[in-house]
Formats: sequence, structure tokens, C-alpha cells
Amino acid sequence: MPSATTTTTLALEGGSPVFDAMVPFMSVGLTPADIAAANEVLESGMLRAATKCAALEERFAAASDAKTGLTCANGTCALQLAYGALLEPGDEVIVPAWTYIATASMLVAAGAKVVFCDVLEDSYQADPADIEKRITPNTKAIAVTHLYGIPVDIDAIQKIAAKHNLKVIYDSAQSHLAEYNEKGIGAFGDACTYSFYATKNLGTGEGGMVTVNDDDLAKTIGLLRSHGESDKYIHDSIGFNYRMNDITGAIGLSKLDTLPAQTDRRREVALRYHGIIDAIDGVDRPAPTAGSNPAWHLYTCRIDLGKLSCTRDEFIAALKAEGVPSAVHYPMPLTDQPAFRDVVAKNEAEFGKDAARPPVSANLATRVFCIPMHHNLTDAQIDGVGEAIAKVAAAYRR
Ligand SMILES: Cc1ncc(COP(=O)(O)O)c(C=O)c1O
Repeated sequence: MPSATTTTTLALEGGSPVFDAMVPFMSVGLTPADIAAANEVLESGMLRAATKCAALEERFAAASDAKTGLTCANGTCALQLAYGALLEPGDEVIVPAWTYIATASMLVAAGAKVVFCDVLEDSYQADPADIEKRITPNTKAIAVTHLYGIPVDIDAIQKIAAKHNLKVIYDSAQSHLAEYNEKGIGAFGDACTYSFYATKNLGTGEGGMVTVNDDDLAKTIGLLRSHGESDKYIHDSIGFNYRMNDITGAIGLSKLDTLPAQTDRRREVALRYHGIIDAIDGVDRPAPTAGSNPAWHLYTCRIDLGKLSCTRDEFIAALKAEGVPSAVHYPMPLTDQPAFRDVVAKNEAEFGKDAARPPVSANLATRVFCIPMHHNLTDAQIDGVGEAIAKVAAAYRR
């Protein structure tokens, strides 16, 4: 709760903090129902992928408006399965420079040629106009993220894909139950990939899923997931073991019971934050893509370095002293990651030095910070977070 003694002197400089104790940044953990579901599997002795994984596939796919779901070990494996089934080595694929590393690194692992594109500043999502600029006769696919739980401009992406005959993979690791034009995001593109990592909106510890709408593709992914095994010890193709187990499946199913209500609460939290942040000069809030209903995995703001005299890191240090934790997703664009040195060099040779380092992504890396976002936040906590951001912004305003 905000304390009554709040003053405008920053807590960092000896003033009273807005909160006496840190606001929880996220809300993870297992309920008694989740634990009972896991115990049921443990007591059955049936630990491999079986009825629980199958039920999770069916229910999660239906909740996302996708035809078929395929559980797998984690979100990285989900990307590998989708890329493995949809791409050929050497295919050129456009991917945003502003996303988690796996969206792009698993393209490299699949032997694809990565071409980085930029994102839109206010929604943080891939910029369709910039994607179009990077299409060449060799482009075969677009792999874009619904980052922070906010759907990308799916209409624009699908139009580009239809025009140039490209596959589309949506990395939906952060966007469980997000919607676009009143449909679940699973209705769009060739494949959507999900992560069920412990901190995700539906977190099973480790876990993932690919959803698709094509039966042949589902079959190919099913084979890739399990050593190409079409019948007992008959291996039609080369594959991996990327299977989920039924303990994870049972936890996922149990958590799926509460996910819709928790997602609704995240949406209420976001709306309340919107109103508060809009009134703070020097701090900007996320602006969702038109037609989207985000899942709000993260609520990511950005400071206006022209209006405030501090750096982002100074801003979040001051916020922390007020009792508001934050996180930086991400501290650099993928084009600055050492792992992509060679990719960037090739992009530079083809598209020019400036285009190879998408400027909006580079700029966001110096400005973004994510504030507490989860279903257990109270209205008083949300208001207090807003009060702390306003206080820090006022202290640093030029
Ligand atoms: C956008 C995105 N893609 C892919 C992944 C990879 O998922 P996992 O950690 O389950 O392998 C993550 C997880 O952090 C992610 O946020």
C-alpha cells in the first residue's frame, strides 16, 4: 500500500518511499489444484506424454482458435519444430531485431538466412512497412513475435505473406490467449509457437506448444517431435525427442482452468496503467496494435530521454527505491548480440550499414522498462506504481 508519508523527495535521496515493501513483479507458483493434478500423474506412474498432454493440446488449441496443438519440451523446441517443418536450409527469413533471442537464433539453428527488420516504437511489434523493404526473391518466410503479449499487425503481415507467397510463423511465447480481430491468435499464420516457462502467463516450469491449422503440417511436426516415428520403431524421417511429459501436461491443464480469468485481470490492470501513465509527462506506455486484445505478459513503458535528464537505468534504480521493481526486456537489440555478428555482417553487405541495425530497436534498448504486471495486483498497488513513476519522472524532468 502507498504510505501516507510519501513526499516528492526521491527515496533514493532519503525521501519516504511510495511503498514500505516491494510490490511483487510477477505472480508465479502452484495452487493446491495444480499440485493435486501433478500428484495424480505421479501416483499413476504414467510419466510420459499421454492423456494429460493430449488434453492440454486439445483445450489450449481450442482456446486459441487453432485446429491442432502439439505439446513439446519448451518454447525453443516449439520454434525448432515449426521452423523444421516449414523451412528449408538456406531459406531467407525476416525476423524482428526486437524480440527474445530464440525467435532468431532457432532460425540460424535451422540453417535459415536471417534478415532483421525493425519494429514500431509504440506497440513494439514488427513494422510491416520495414518487412516489405527487406523482401528479396529469396525470402521464404516471416517469423514475428507477438511481443509482451501484444499481437503484431496480423492483417498487414498476412497481406505481405499472401502477396509474396511467404510462410508465417508467429512466436506467441508471451501471448497465451491474446486475440486479434476478435479471434484467438492461433487462427492466423502457418504456425504459432508457445512457451510455458515458469514465468509465462501459463507457466509449467518448462514446456511449450506449437499450434497449426493444417493436418499435414501437424503430422510433420508430430514426426519431428518424436524421432520421425510413424509406428513402433519405424522411423519415417529424422526427428528429435522434444516431447512434453504428463506431469507438465497436468500442471498446464490445471493452470488453463484459471488462465482466462487471470488474463482478464491482466487486461484490467493494463487499462488502469494506461490512464495513469498517459498523465505522466516523460514516460510513454505501450500502445496495442489496432484490433488486438493483448494478453499483457509484460507491461513495457519507455522513458522520453528528451524530457527526462536521467538514463533508463537511473530511472529504474529510483523506482526500485520507491518499492517498484522493474525489468528490462531487452537491454540490446538482437543486432548487437555477439551471437549474430556474422548475420549482421551479411545483412550489412546486402541492405547497407544503417538498415542492418534497425534504429527503432536500438533506440528502444536505451528506454524500455517493464513494470509489475500480473493477475494478483490490487488497484491500490497499481495506483502506487503509477504514483512512484510520476514521482521519479517529476524529479528528473528537464
Ligand atoms: C518471445 C520468446 N520466444 C521464445 C522463447 C523461448 O521459450 P523457452 O524459454 O520455453 O524455450 C521465449 C521465452 O522466454 C520468448 O519470450
